[in-house]
Amino acid sequence: MILTREEERILEGEEGDIKAKALRLLVEVGKQKGAERLVPIKRSHISGVSYKTAGKPMLHLLQDMAKHNVKVTTFATINPAGMPRDGWKKIGIPKDFARYQKKIIKAYQQLGCTITLSCTPYSIHPPQVGETVAFAESSAVCFVNSVIGAKTNRHGSLDALAASITGKVPRMGLILEENRKPRVHIKLNFTPSSQTEFSLIGLYIGGKIEQEENPLFSFPTTPSKRDLKSLGGGLATSGAIALFHVLDVTPEARKLKKTKLQGLETFKITKKDLKAFVESKKAKSKWSHPDLIAIGCPHIALEKLEKIAQKLQGRKIKNGIKFWIFTSNGVIEKAETKSLEIIKDAGGQIITDTCPVVTPIEQLEIEKVVVDSAKAFSYIPRLSEGVNASLANLEEIIRNWTKED
Ligand code: F3S
Repeated sequence: MILTREEERILEGEEGDIKAKALRLLVEVGKQKGAERLVPIKRSHISGVSYKTAGKPMLHLLQDMAKHNVKVTTFATINPAGMPRDGWKKIGIPKDFARYQKKIIKAYQQLGCTITLSCTPYSIHPPQVGETVAFAESSAVCFVNSVIGAKTNRHGSLDALAASITGKVPRMGLILEENRKPRVHIKLNFTPSSQTEFSLIGLYIGGKIEQEENPLFSFPTTPSKRDLKSLGGGLATSGAIALFHVLDVTPEARKLKKTKLQGLETFKITKKDLKAFVESKKAKSKWSHPDLIAIGCPHIALEKLEKIAQKLQGRKIKNGIKFWIFTSNGVIEKAETKSLEIIKDAGGQIITDTCPVVTPIEQLEIEKVVVDSAKAFSYIPRLSEGVNASLANLEEIIRNWTKED
């Protein structure tokens, strides 16, 4: 790999051991993937924030960095933690968990990260179209590549942290134009009827194609950005897909010449295929009384928050069911006070800073969780021992588990 004089100096330890190690990690990753050089970045997003998933090793690494006065050199946002900063006691988070979680957040703060604690940091701080960035968090990676049109590889917590400290990434993978082209065309003869269905389409297709195929979707009608966020969440879950296109909709697909589509392998998906997939996964909820309804994987956008408030107006969540809506503080700051009050009056709770998957719900006497996202449906049982998840869309949630006030 060809390195600049500045990069060589950093590798030699002139800016400290930790920065040298961080750069070495990126150089090694780049060498393995055939990158010829590193490129500078100004924007990054780091995962590995929840104490539930990151644990003590990550805490110690971050504390060590903070002790040595290491700072990020990018505008670095961070993923959800394992609990809300305020109100963690109220939802039953154990004291010990909270103690370690606070230390992790403090360490990220000392490194100079922007404490967003959200997996949708792009809704408040979006990267530029065409900008090279370093994002961790698979659903965010998919969104910034596909819907915003920025360029990132799918980073893990350590290499995203290394990229944030050095302000560099190896020039490889999805940063290169030639690797961003669609290789498979997915034609749907119906437009999914809810964000839940979009996420299921993503989960279904992600399991059928290869990671580097960058699927191109055609829908009969134009999906919204929120729909695409759900689609990407599903794709990233089952297939580690980091980029998709939607014909005539997403930035790179808008420039696609129609003649280029002819050589692509094509899959046709019908409503019947999706129904069979959902049945095979035993995904649809049949519970009359779940312990928790969790909406917001990925964190919901302002429009969805307002939509939930509209649906809950004049209704109450049925007794004994927790109804948690996960979003970012950035969204709450923009929300109408009236909407927040409607949700609260109906018995719902808005929870920021954390998410249904990385909060320790297995320690909160919760066994049955209804979610509206395929990603949460897949991950909750894997990461929360003894907890079962089931899927329902927003309409079904309102119909089945709320009543007229
Ligand atoms: Fe976000 Fe947590 Fe889902 S980080 S995408 S809400 S698993």
